[in-house]
Order: sequence, then C-alpha cells, then structure tokens
Amino acid sequence: MLFSLALVASSFAVARVASAMAVSGATGPATPNYWFSFGDSYSTTGFSPSGTLPAPGNPLGNPAYPGNTGAGGSNWVDVCTTVYNASLLLTWNYAYSGATVDAALVAPYYPTTLSLKDQVGEFLAGVAAPWTPADALFSVWIGINDLGYSYYWTNGSRSTFADVLLDAEFGLVEKLMLASPASNQTLLRIVTDEFNKKLAEKVDAFEVEHPDFVQSSVYFWDAHAVFTDILDDLPKYGFDADPTAYGGANDFWG
Ligand SMILES: *[C@@H]1O[C@H](CO)[C@@H](O)[C@H](O)[C@H]1NC(C)=O
Ligand SMILES: *[C@@H]1O[C@H](CO)[C@@H](O)[C@H](O)[C@H]1NC(C)=O
Ligand SMILES: *[C@@H]1O[C@H](CO)[C@@H](O)[C@H](O)[C@H]1NC(C)=O
Repeated sequence: MLFSLALVASSFAVARVASAMAVSGATGPATPNYWFSFGDSYSTTGFSPSGTLPAPGNPLGNPAYPGNTGAGGSNWVDVCTTVYNASLLLTWNYAYSGATVDAALVAPYYPTTLSLKDQVGEFLAGVAAPWTPADALFSVWIGINDLGYSYYWTNGSRSTFADVLLDAEFGLVEKLMLASPASNQTLLRIVTDEFNKKLAEKVDAFEVEHPDFVQSSVYFWDAHAVFTDILDDLPKYGFDADPTAYGGANDFWG
C-alpha cells in the first residue's frame, strides 16, 4: 500500500541520459559518468557533499556502502551504481529522508530535513567533478511526503496545489539544467549577441544625436564577427586548428 502510494505520488524526471553510459569501457583509462540523484527516503544513502566524495572504487563516496537507506540495506541508487554500471559511474546522491519539494510549500516533519530545493542548492554550490551534459544523468524521485503531509488540507483547491508543487519541482529541474556548462555557453552567446546589436545601434544613434561633432567620426569595429570568422577556420589563417588551445607557438590565444 505504502509503496504503491509512493509510485503514484512520485514524479521522476530524468534529463540527459549519458550516451556513454550504455557503452562499456573501450581501451584506455575509463572516464567517469556522473549521476546526480535528488529525492527522499526512497533514494537516500545518507551522502553528504562535504564528506568523502565519489571516486573509482568508492562510487558513492560517503557513508560506506550501502549507506543509511530507508530500507536498511542497499536501495536502487546503490544497486544501479554498483551492479548495473556497465561503465564507470560515480554517484552524487543528494536525496534526503523525509524531503518535500520546498519546505515553504509543505513543511517536512523535521525542520532540519533538506528539501529538494535545499538539495539543488547544495548541487549548485559546486560539484568537484568535471561533468558535462554528455556524461551526466540527473534523477528526481520526490512527491510522497508532499502529499502525505498535505492531502487532508481543506483550504484551497487540490488541483491548484498540485500545479504549485509541480511548478516548484520543475523550476528546480530547470535550475539543474541551467547549471550545465553547455547552457552557460548558450546563454553567454545570447547575451553577447544582444549586447553587440545594441552597441551597433548606440553607435548609429550617437552620430545622429551629435551633428555638432562635424570634424569627428565614430567607428564601430565588430571584433566578435572577426574573431568568429578566424576561429571557425584557424588553419586558413596560419594557426593550429584547436580553437581552445592557449600559449603554443601557433595557437590563436596567448
Ligand atoms: C561497477 O561498480 C563496482 C563496485 O564499485 C566496481 O567494482 C566495478 O568495477 C564497476 N564496473 C565498472 C564497469 O566500472
Ligand atoms: C493551507 O493550509 C496549510 C497548513 O496550514 C498551509 O501551509 C497552506 O499554506 C495553506 N494553503 C493556502 C492556499 O492557504
Ligand atoms: C554557469 O552558470 C551558473 C548559473 O546558472 C553560474 O553559477 C556559474 O558560475 C556559471 N559557470 C561559469 C563557468 O561561468
């Protein structure tokens, strides 16, 4: 009964399944895949991001396997990390017993419980792992406590409150996605393009606003466009091909 309620009440959002995860180790040292798990007692292993961190040979970090689980033995996070790991998998399991999505929406039983919002905050505070969207899996198993502690409320509409909870959950999932280095690049590109467009408009407007500067001209040189043109085809301009290389004799940078 409890378990079926857990399934009904839980939502499971997964983003960016590592393509590499399905591929077993080829030659050379294995590069890790990363799993960032969030949730409640169904998933917790008692991990703390300020303790021993996951590493090859100790893929869940702290505490010692199977950790402090709701089941009193190994749980699905333990098993997926150490048994169904077709390739090297390191798991940061932020899940916390008793967690709700956000304590401001549904208070947990213990005020010290880390909500999904708190767990995402821990993740965003920094992960000492060189993960990328291509090698990371995010999972969220949450909802049982939110409903368990609120299903009997008679104030307000249940349907509206379900939307409130889900909006809060997916707002947090969005934060996780935005944390990826790839989305930083996309965002930086959008911000740069808009800034450069406004800069060009500003230069034009400046000339129009100052017919008094008859002896002067304002020039706009688009360094971004020129750099992009060169970086897109470095060998054509006599540089080595890697656009991220720095400091070498034929590198574009430094
Ligand atoms: C899977 O995890 C176990 C336990 O940490 C480890 O011994 C094994 O080498 C891992 N498998 C791969 C392919 O990394
Ligand atoms: C309904 O009551 C609960 C418990 O007192 C409270 O936390 C919640 O904010 C209330 N919801 C609304 C919509 O007033
Ligand atoms: C990426 O964006 C996040 C905010 O979403 C920010 O905290 C982080 O510092 C950024 N990383 C880099 C390398 O700029």
